[in-house]
Amino acid sequence: MAFLHPWACVLVSCISVSLVGEFNLSDLYPPLWNESPGQFSDYRVENGKHIIDPWVYPERMGMYKILVNKTASYFEKFAPDNEQNILWGLPLQHGWQYTTGRLVDPSGRTDCGYETGDHLCISVDSWWADMNYFLSALPFLGAVDSGIMGISSDQVTLSPPPKDQTKFCLDVSSCQSSFPQTMSKWNTFYKHLQLTSSSFDDLLKYLWDAHTSSLKDVYKVFEDRLEYYSEPEADFGRDWCVALDYLATSRFPTTFIRVSEFQKALPPRVLVSGDKAPFISNFTALQNTVLLGLNLLHKVDSATGFLLHVSYAFTGSGISNVAVNLKTFLYQVAL
Ligand SMILES: *[C@@H]1O[C@H](CO)[C@@H](O)[C@H](O)[C@H]1NC(C)=O
Ligand SMILES: *[C@@H]1O[C@H](CO)[C@@H](O)[C@H](O)[C@H]1NC(C)=O
Ligand SMILES: *[C@@H]1O[C@H](CO)[C@@H](O)[C@H](O)[C@H]1NC(C)=O
Repeated sequence: MAFLHPWACVLVSCISVSLVGEFNLSDLYPPLWNESPGQFSDYRVENGKHIIDPWVYPERMGMYKILVNKTASYFEKFAPDNEQNILWGLPLQHGWQYTTGRLVDPSGRTDCGYETGDHLCISVDSWWADMNYFLSALPFLGAVDSGIMGISSDQVTLSPPPKDQTKFCLDVSSCQSSFPQTMSKWNTFYKHLQLTSSSFDDLLKYLWDAHTSSLKDVYKVFEDRLEYYSEPEADFGRDWCVALDYLATSRFPTTFIRVSEFQKALPPRVLVSGDKAPFISNFTALQNTVLLGLNLLHKVDSATGFLLHVSYAFTGSGISNVAVNLKTFLYQVAL
């Protein structure tokens, strides 16, 4: 596997992502950010509960909008304008899913999500939408439970999807009983967020812990959804989940500008059969390289399995060099 070593170096050196220049943050907001609800009173109320339909794009995005708003004060000590709020990664990624057509009904049985149909609809058959549900509902409800959202736990409920309702939890108490460990991790994150003694790195650690735990809880539950996609897209979905583990281990800072930059490297549309990185003609060189890199990372990860995950303890061995190089590669891309 030593041949991967120079490979990884080549990958690293062909990547140059600029962080220079002034950003106008508002130009980089996710799609329909301004139109999305920004406070609880923008949602319907029934029997004293705010009702949020997470299967409608602006309503799901609105949960993030409230979340980054209510957590802004805890990040002021790191930078102005909420730029260093590490929760930005979540709405930005959801915006990328929307823009790139990943929230539509991949089975094509309904017009959910399609530009020509119900374009704000989020399909329960979309693998990306289902995985994202647990990265929107759980962090949001966890924040409500922690008391920082200004409403009590029984004052908000999410609408169920049109099918497979039992796979989703809809409020604080049902999410706590279905996903106790993950909800407790989100709670730990919000607890540390409120401590003035928490460092930026501490917060990243707790955030990534909760993030990876959310995905691990449901990865198997929704794996069959990948069958709706072309092989390259399904592979990319699986590769992406492996890559997230590495981003988590390296505590990638999911701040506004970092994530916005990172997204330029991600596939700008759903992959179709025949798409083969690094030869996808209408992708940028960076997008092609990263797609290939993610695929290699997954291959190495599967081939070395457990060892790779503990390789940090074995520096010096060939395998750990590959692991470290690929980790460096991902991190460089992310930078
Ligand atoms: C940033 O963009 C917004 C909306 O496009 C605009 O109103 C604002 O003036 C811009 N700010 C700067 C500093 O360019
Ligand atoms: C949070 O939302 C309120 C109400 O919409 C707004 O006035 C305030 O400026 C927002 N704060 C931040 C930091 O975005
Ligand atoms: C990009 O390439 C794919 C596959 O060859 C093709 O279906 C699609 O129309 C192309 N898109 C653009 C914008 O050229």
